[in-house]
Amino acid sequence: MKRTPEKNLYEQVARRLQGQVASGVYQPGDRVPSVRRLSVQFEVSVSTVIEAYRRLENQGVIEAKPQSGYYVRARLWQPPAQPAISQPLSSPTSVSVSALAMKVLKVSRDPDVLQLGVATPHFSFLPTRALNQILARIARHDHGRGCGYDFPPGSPELRQQIARRSADAGCQLSPDEIVTTSGCQEALSLCLRAVAKPGDTIAIESPAFYGTLQTIERLGMKALEIPTCPRKGVSLDALKLALERWRIRACLFVLSYSNPLGACMAEENRKRLVRLLAEHDVPLIEDDIYGDLGFSAKRPKAAKAFDRKGLVLLCSSFSKTLAPGYRVGWVVPGRYQEDIEHLKYVNTMATATLPQLAIAEFLDRGGYDRYLRKTRALYAANVERFTHAIARYFPEGTKVTQPAGGFVLWVELPGKADAIELRRRALVQKISIAPGPLFSAKQKYRHCIRITCAYPWGERVERALPILGRLAQEMV
Ligand SMILES: Cc1ncc(COP(=O)(O)O)c(C=O)c1O
Repeated sequence: MKRTPEKNLYEQVARRLQGQVASGVYQPGDRVPSVRRLSVQFEVSVSTVIEAYRRLENQGVIEAKPQSGYYVRARLWQPPAQPAISQPLSSPTSVSVSALAMKVLKVSRDPDVLQLGVATPHFSFLPTRALNQILARIARHDHGRGCGYDFPPGSPELRQQIARRSADAGCQLSPDEIVTTSGCQEALSLCLRAVAKPGDTIAIESPAFYGTLQTIERLGMKALEIPTCPRKGVSLDALKLALERWRIRACLFVLSYSNPLGACMAEENRKRLVRLLAEHDVPLIEDDIYGDLGFSAKRPKAAKAFDRKGLVLLCSSFSKTLAPGYRVGWVVPGRYQEDIEHLKYVNTMATATLPQLAIAEFLDRGGYDRYLRKTRALYAANVERFTHAIARYFPEGTKVTQPAGGFVLWVELPGKADAIELRRRALVQKISIAPGPLFSAKQKYRHCIRITCAYPWGERVERALPILGRLAQEMV
């Protein structure tokens, strides 16, 4: 069949743009040029570009977003395989990660280094201006309260706001059940001290958040790492066996979008977990810090929602969503309320007053959900882009998690790659990553790294990821 010249033209335009997508000029989630702009770039008519875009849309290469333009479809490519369920040491062990953690902490303060090694959102993702304005206004009109102690359980205004929001996580909390803390890290530390003593064994995920590991280390407790699936979270079958075999004093798990795996436990399994621990009378310290950061509209219920015995101690903070530097977190201690209030008092006397009041007012104004919706979409797009770049630049056989929330990726490198050495070489290039050994009691996961995606996508990241990929390539 003889083709009309016009048809030839829009096919050519479509092919050229498709080529740019295939070669990575435009990545999944990227906006492609506007119709008008492409018509100038390719020196064709506007109607030819519209036809080309329609064709690419039909082929699933791009998608139109109302009042926004055309974007490269996110799932055009096959993401790399996910790491398999972990196989940690099967007995309780002392923990030794603190020295390595302090090294990582040191570089996290260097502004010349691209911080892909810390699980902290870049300030541009946070409502910094709005929060600071509220805090400044409260400070200006303060008649002394802001400079005074806010003794445990902490600011009533903030506890009321947290209680109101708790229904989203399936809990019906009253403000009296909540104790505010200086971040989630303090909440976790208070809980560990409330439920266990030196020498006791704490069951944790594997790999696990290194803040938890360090606390266990400094409290002289032992960690029992439980096999964990990157999608479903901690294995309940393995936990059941461990409970029968060892004297486990408490469990400390991140059930929603864990750090570093990004795993999210299904609701049925959360119920099963709470039941299992109730049977053994073992408390669960539930770290829910990423619970608000799922990529789908429905927020997971906290395990606390199924707790009938007061055995779940729910911990969280606003560090991943609003302001890590405000240091505002909280704990719902269940049957350990009195102990936790006293431990909080002994530990830091009180949580700083002004940041609590500012966050309470921010929540009261009602913009938090809108802000969360926007930020979650940004993190989802970034996770996709980072994954795409890793698939493209890292050695063949690299495995990457596919989190459904949060903003970190766990990357398992093939062959003999060494994460500590990779970190050292990356730092020479002014890029920081978190090496896998940080995430286990005895520094396992030497071939793994964690990368944060809560950094704005742009030139700096686009330059860094191929460099990381090349460095990893050199090692395998
Ligand atoms: C899983 C997890 N829990 C707790 C914390 C500590 O949170 P905060 O800064 O509120 O103390 C972090 C921070 O990285 C985290 O990833």
